[in-house]
Amino acid sequence: MIRKCLFPAAGYGTRFLPATKATPKEMLPVLTKPLIQYGVEEAISAGCNTMAIVTGRGKRAIEDHFDISYELEHQIKGTSKEPFLSEIREVINSCQFTYTRQKEMKGLGHAILTGETLIGNEPFAVILADDLCDNGEGDSVLKQMVEMYERYNCSIVALQEVPMDETYKYGVIEGKLIDQSDNIYRLSNMVEKPKVEEAPSNLAIIGRYILAPEIFDAIRETKPGLGGEIQITDALMALAQKGRVIGYKFEGERFDCGSVDGFVKATNWFYEKSCK
Ligand code: UTP
Repeated sequence: MIRKCLFPAAGYGTRFLPATKATPKEMLPVLTKPLIQYGVEEAISAGCNTMAIVTGRGKRAIEDHFDISYELEHQIKGTSKEPFLSEIREVINSCQFTYTRQKEMKGLGHAILTGETLIGNEPFAVILADDLCDNGEGDSVLKQMVEMYERYNCSIVALQEVPMDETYKYGVIEGKLIDQSDNIYRLSNMVEKPKVEEAPSNLAIIGRYILAPEIFDAIRETKPGLGGEIQITDALMALAQKGRVIGYKFEGERFDCGSVDGFVKATNWFYEKSCK
């Protein structure tokens, strides 16, 4: 039912400068695989067959990564190194890639609206590739969310409990637990990057969403908020006030690879996993 996954990938990645000066943040590797490939594999595992990527200036490496490199294929064919390409070949063969550019970086909400041309009028998934998620042998976080979408039929945000003194980094929700076994909350309010004393809870929105197409009109009606950017949290709040957004506390690990600390933790996590 959810065929398309949108990847907003136009941000500057300033927390990773100078690495991100000429290299997209989404192409930074955890072990040998760029962040965005983990995201695309997660979307495929959730049943998506179209990856809609919102890029910006200096992000061409993303398109090249999801394309065939004939020269490299020719060089490596029949050698012991060929298996290194097998995963990416499988990814390229199992879905379609579409791209559009966000010309001005006006925030995540604006990036998602820029992707409307690739999505059309249907519900879709969103993955922020710098939030790297892993649920081991269990269902991927996006797969869990697609199942919840089939059950609840409205927009869904992924939630994670964070320490109270870290709420200033996230969109934080206010909501009511409506299904304890599914870990589902009906959202009534959301605050973008609140100070501790203003945070309505310690449940933070992380980089996985399932959005109904009504989000596009909601974004169009959203005025620039914090930092002059069009925040997806503000647009979602308009839908939440109509009772049309739920939050899902997912199962699995999540690493904030947009920060050096989270990136190192993810690298150690996947390295240890690869040694098992
Ligand atoms: P971040 O808040 O992590 O911003 O964006 P950033 O620019 O990537 O990184 P820092 O904070 O400067 O280090 C969250 C997600 O939204 C995308 C980013 O690419 C990232 O996936 N985004 C953000 C856009 O696509 N466009 C924007 O205008 C802003």
